Amino acid sequence: MPITVNQATQSFHLYNDQLSYVMQVKDHRFLLHVYYGQRIREFTQVLPYPEVERSSFSPNPAGYEATNFTLDTALQEFPGCGDGDYRESAFAVTYADGTQATALEYVGYTLEAGKPVLAGLPATYVEHAEAADTLTITLADPVRRLRVTLQYTVFAALPVITRAVQYHNDGDKTLFLDKALSFALDLPDADYDLIQLPGAWAREKQLVRTPLAAGSHVIDSKRGASSVQQQPFMALARPATTETVGEVFACHFVYSGNFQLSASVDTYRQTRLTGGINAEGFRWKLNPQATFQAPEMVLVYSASGLNGMSQAFHRLYRKHLARGLYRDAARPVIINNWETTYFDFDEKRLLGLATKAKQIGVELFVLDDGWFGHRNADNSSLGDWTVDAKKLPKGLAHLSQAIHGLGMQFGLWFEPEMISPDSDLYRAHPDWVLNVPDYPQSQGRNQLVLDFSREDVRQAICAQLDAVLGGVAIDFIKWDMNRNITAAASRLLPADQQQETLHRYMLGLYALVDDITTRYPQILFENCSGGGGRFDPGMCYYMPQSWASDDTDAYERLKIQYGTSLIFPPIMIDAHLSEAPNDQVGRTTPLATRIAVSQSANFGLMMNLEQKTPAELVTLQAAIADYKVHRDLIQFGDFYRLLDPFTHHDGAWMFVDAEQAHARVVYVQGLNQASKPLVNIKLLGLAPDAIYQLNGERWRGDELMHYGLYLNQLLTADFQSAVVDLVRVDN
Ligand code: DGJ
Repeated sequence: MPITVNQATQSFHLYNDQLSYVMQVKDHRFLLHVYYGQRIREFTQVLPYPEVERSSFSPNPAGYEATNFTLDTALQEFPGCGDGDYRESAFAVTYADGTQATALEYVGYTLEAGKPVLAGLPATYVEHAEAADTLTITLADPVRRLRVTLQYTVFAALPVITRAVQYHNDGDKTLFLDKALSFALDLPDADYDLIQLPGAWAREKQLVRTPLAAGSHVIDSKRGASSVQQQPFMALARPATTETVGEVFACHFVYSGNFQLSASVDTYRQTRLTGGINAEGFRWKLNPQATFQAPEMVLVYSASGLNGMSQAFHRLYRKHLARGLYRDAARPVIINNWETTYFDFDEKRLLGLATKAKQIGVELFVLDDGWFGHRNADNSSLGDWTVDAKKLPKGLAHLSQAIHGLGMQFGLWFEPEMISPDSDLYRAHPDWVLNVPDYPQSQGRNQLVLDFSREDVRQAICAQLDAVLGGVAIDFIKWDMNRNITAAASRLLPADQQQETLHRYMLGLYALVDDITTRYPQILFENCSGGGGRFDPGMCYYMPQSWASDDTDAYERLKIQYGTSLIFPPIMIDAHLSEAPNDQVGRTTPLATRIAVSQSANFGLMMNLEQKTPAELVTLQAAIADYKVHRDLIQFGDFYRLLDPFTHHDGAWMFVDAEQAHARVVYVQGLNQASKPLVNIKLLGLAPDAIYQLNGERWRGDELMHYGLYLNQLLTADFQSAVVDLVRVDN
C-alpha cells in the first residue's frame, strides 16, 4: 500500500513513483503538513520544519505558552479559525452560542484500499482497489463536538492525490457551517508563478501566468455555476518551469457551482492554497449527528512541467472521471444545425442538411435549440419540451426515423434547468423558479432558473424528458445552460437554510443527470453552458464531452482549446468546423486551418452544406475521412502542447498514440509577418530510437525531439497552418 504510517514519528507518507506527501502529528494534537513534491523513498525525520521565535502577535496555543510553536506560522493540514492562525481558513463554524472559535485536534486514522464513493457528488473513481489507496484522518474539537474527517486518496500510477472532507456535528445542538472547504495545502516557500484560466463568454480558458506576489489571490465564482469567467483550477509553477521541465502544483475542483480557490503568501513567504465551495452565499445548517460532505479536490504534482501536469489530468479524467459506454468509445463526427439555421428551420431544411452531411461522412445529426414550444427566438418556451408542430408537423419521431434512415444517429438539444416567462410551465408554476418572493426577478437571455433544489421540480422536468426520450430514438443530448443565478432562494427552504440553496441546486442537478445518464446509457451527452460556462470536472463525471466555446473561429479556438488542454483531454472537447467569415468575430481563416483546429478534438461541423460547391464538399469529405483515420490517435492518444499562442504569434500541439507509432503535429500561424523569425518546434513523446516517416522523409525520434522541425517558413499568409503526420517505419 503506497501509504505508510510511522507510529514512532507519528507521520503519514502517501507516495507513488512520482510523488510523496507527508504529514505529521505534533504531540498527538496538531496535524501538520510536512512535505509535498518529488518522491522521497522514506521520510525519517521528526517535525524538521524549524519553529522560530516570532512576535507576540502570533499567539501560542494553550499549553505552548513558553515555546516558539504558533499556529500562525505552522504548516497545517486543515487550518481553522479563531485559533491563532490568521491566514486563510479551511472552514468556519458558528455554534449555538453564536461563537466561532474551533481548535481541531488529531483523533486517529484509517486506511483502506481503493477509493470510497462520495455520495451524491461527482468524484474520480477507481475500478480496482489496487489503483489507489485512501487514508482518512479524523480531527475533532472535543468541546465543540465538531468532527472533521480528511480523506486523502493517492493513485498508484498517476501523480495525483485527491482530497475530500466531511464535517460531522457530534453534539446535541445545531451548528452552522459558514465555510466548508475541501482542502488546504501549506507550502514552505513562495517562489511560484500562479497559473489560471480566466475567460468570458466565447473567450473561455485564456491561459494567464503571473508571478505569485504577497497577499491573497482568489479565483472564484459566485454565479451558481463554475462559469466562463473562471475555471475551478489553479496551478503554482516554479518560475523556471516550462512545458516540459520543472515543478507544478495544481488543483482542480470536482464541482460545478460556486467555488473559491486561493493562493496566499504570508509574511514569512510561506504559501497556502485553499479551495472548495465559495463561502459567500453558503451557510449550511448541521443538525445534531448530521454530516456535510464537501466535494472533491484533485491535486496534481508534476516534476515534468505543464505538459506533465496536463497528462496527469488527461489520464485521470479519461479513465477515472468519465463514465459509461462512451468513456472508451470513439466519438462520432457531428453536424449541428445551430450556426446554419439558428431558430429558422423546418423538417425539409433539416433533412436537406442531414442528407448532405451523410454524403460527406458525418455520423450524427444534432438538432439544436428551437424545436419545441413556439420558440422562434430566445424569448420563449423553455420548460415546454414538446415539439413545435409548426416547424415539425410530422413530429420528432418522424425526423429521427428519417435521420436514422439516412444511416446517421440523431441528437437533440435541451436546456432543462431553465424556464421562459413565456411558457406554459411558468404560467402553471411561477413559484418553481429560484427567486425571493415579491422581489424583482432578473432575467438572463430572457429566462429564469428552475429551482432544481426541489425534487418536485426536477421530477416534472424529468417526466418531460422521459416523454421525449420514450417516444423518439435519440442517440445524443446536448445539455445546455445559458444564464447564471440571481437572488438564489428556494420556496421550500426555511429562513435558516436559504443559504443552502445554491449547493442544494447543484446536488439536485447532479441527482437528475445521474438518474438520466444511468437510465439512458446508450445516449452520448454533450455538456454545454453557452459554450464552456460549466465545463468543469463535476459535469465531466456525467457527460463525457463538452462544447468548449460558442466561438468557432479557428484562431480564437486555437487559444481556447490550448487553454482547455491544460486540464481536459481532446476527447472531452467538442470542436466544430464553421463558416468564414466567422459568425462570432467576423474573421476569415483558411478552410484548412479551420479543419486542423476542429480536428484537434471531437470533430464536428456547423456549416451550411447545401450552399457548398461540389469541390468544397469533396474537401470536407476528405477532412472527415482523414479524421476517421486519425480519430483513435486524436481521441485516445497523448496530447502535448508545443507552442503557446498566448505568448507567441502562433500555436502548435501534437498527438502521439500509445505505441508511439503514429503522431500528428498541428501548427497554426497568427498574422503573417515579413522577415519573420523561424520557429523551431521540438516534438515530444516519440520513441527516440524509432524511425518516423513524414512528408516523404525519414527522421529518428530523437532528431525530431531534439533538433526539431521548422514549420512556419512554409506559411505565407495570415492564419495558415501546417499539419504533419508521422508514421513509424523503423526500417
Ligand atoms: C448556447 C450554445 O452554446 C449554442 O451552441 C447553442 O446551443 C445555443 N445555446 C442555443 O440556444
